[in-house]
Amino acid sequence: MENINTATGWDAELYNDKHSFVFKYGEDLIDLLLPKEGERILDLGCGTGYLTNAIATSGATVIGIDNSLEMITKAKIAYPQLEFKVLPGEEFHFDEHFDAIFSNAALHWMLEKEKVIDCMYRNLKRTGRIVLEMGGKNNIENIITALKESLIKHGFAENASIAVWYFPSEAEYTALLEKRGFKVTYAAHFSRETTLNDTRNGIKDWVKMFGSQFLNGINNELVDIILNEVQNTLRPILFKDNNWHADYKRLRIIAIK
Ligand code: BEZ
Repeated sequence: MENINTATGWDAELYNDKHSFVFKYGEDLIDLLLPKEGERILDLGCGTGYLTNAIATSGATVIGIDNSLEMITKAKIAYPQLEFKVLPGEEFHFDEHFDAIFSNAALHWMLEKEKVIDCMYRNLKRTGRIVLEMGGKNNIENIITALKESLIKHGFAENASIAVWYFPSEAEYTALLEKRGFKVTYAAHFSRETTLNDTRNGIKDWVKMFGSQFLNGINNELVDIILNEVQNTLRPILFKDNNWHADYKRLRIIAIK
């Protein structure tokens, strides 16, 4: 199987094997969630369910949703005792509302952010809370810049101009939440340079896994040339101590309905 996700298909195997840092870093977000036995919690953008399961160990009832069938299929196999559903973050409805909504490294994929915020609000109980972490302003800026420059250089300006992610500032996202009626009680924007698993092709692997939408329609040979070029451009900035790093910037939020 090609190790590339498209807009609709994730390689959940590759995600678990080589990109597990995504959910491993989310573990300390659970400390902010403080899940309690008896609570009903939604894990929004749950991926392969690792954090959904970690939250469930508190005794809370946790439901995981994700727009990717591949991810949800894997989550259901790994954690058959938990409930998972394929649902988009921009359009979900549960008759029984939640005490808390948790989301790690997922909201930056949902470009219709007002719709997501509205859905979270409507599916929470009165005084329910949201505990979120997503890519924040300037997230992976070096990777994006190098990739776009290389795409343009090789005649793919259209690929370079597509909107794939939403990385808001603290001020922008808290304003959107407050506009919908949330009270923001905690917000932080911080750097988290993240070591990638593959010491040889860390950047190439990362772009194949997460940035494949930029490569749509480009033949494999040229993709390889572009990704080698991107990796070489980034070597002086993101290759340190014999490891590749991604220049992540995180936005963490807690807010109450
Ligand atoms: C992130 O977690 O910041 C992220 C992951 C994949 C693509 C873009 C951003």
